[in-house]
Amino acid sequence: MRLDKYLANANLGSRKEVNKLIKKGDISVNGDIVKSPKTDVGYDDKIYYIDVPIVLEEFIYFMVNKPDGVISSTEEGPTETVIDLIAHPQQGELFPVGRLDKDTVGLLFITNDGKLAHQLLSPKNEYYKTYHVTLRDEVSPEDIIRLETGIELKDFTTKPAKAELLSPNEVSLSITEGKFHQVKRMFLAIGNEVIRLKRTGFASLILDETLAEGEYRRLTEEEIKNLNN
Ligand code: URA
Repeated sequence: MRLDKYLANANLGSRKEVNKLIKKGDISVNGDIVKSPKTDVGYDDKIYYIDVPIVLEEFIYFMVNKPDGVISSTEEGPTETVIDLIAHPQQGELFPVGRLDKDTVGLLFITNDGKLAHQLLSPKNEYYKTYHVTLRDEVSPEDIIRLETGIELKDFTTKPAKAELLSPNEVSLSITEGKFHQVKRMFLAIGNEVIRLKRTGFASLILDETLAEGEYRRLTEEEIKNLNN
């Protein structure tokens, strides 16, 4: 990674500000002053601002608006992953909390905080995940009742959910479970088909609609506090 990007990601300043520091000779890498913002640096390099080590972060929290076609696993492979979207010197520590299908868009929480991830994913805590679901066919009031009551699938019956009709073909559905293809399977079971699925909420987090698909931002202090409650 370029030195200027590294320093900006480590919160030393904006790209422009850190470039000035580099040109001034305030930044050293492994004991040598470097003056090129393009210098390639990695985790093992010792990077100092004058005599202050650039300490990397203990806990990192991002929300991503996942685009279609990107997978949410962390495995290396030919397909782009949500982690590839994040520019951060500690990218290798990051993982998504929970999974979305490749064609599902919207909110994914990304962190390196294993304890918080475990808490959020534990089925006993029953955190809601909210989806904006666009359907092939119109949804009836009876369908809403069925979704809310619980739907019998081949291998299990879904827990009571919250469902709200947003338009004849659109539903906001909040579920506490996160089984494989669950939302798609719930609608298939009532004779409909999901044509677009977007996650808008996860526990206390709400998707920041100013993020275009593929964009991400750090969580605010308030969002982090609320997730930990
Ligand atoms: N349910 C699905 O069917 N797909 C997702 O990606 C998430 C929930």
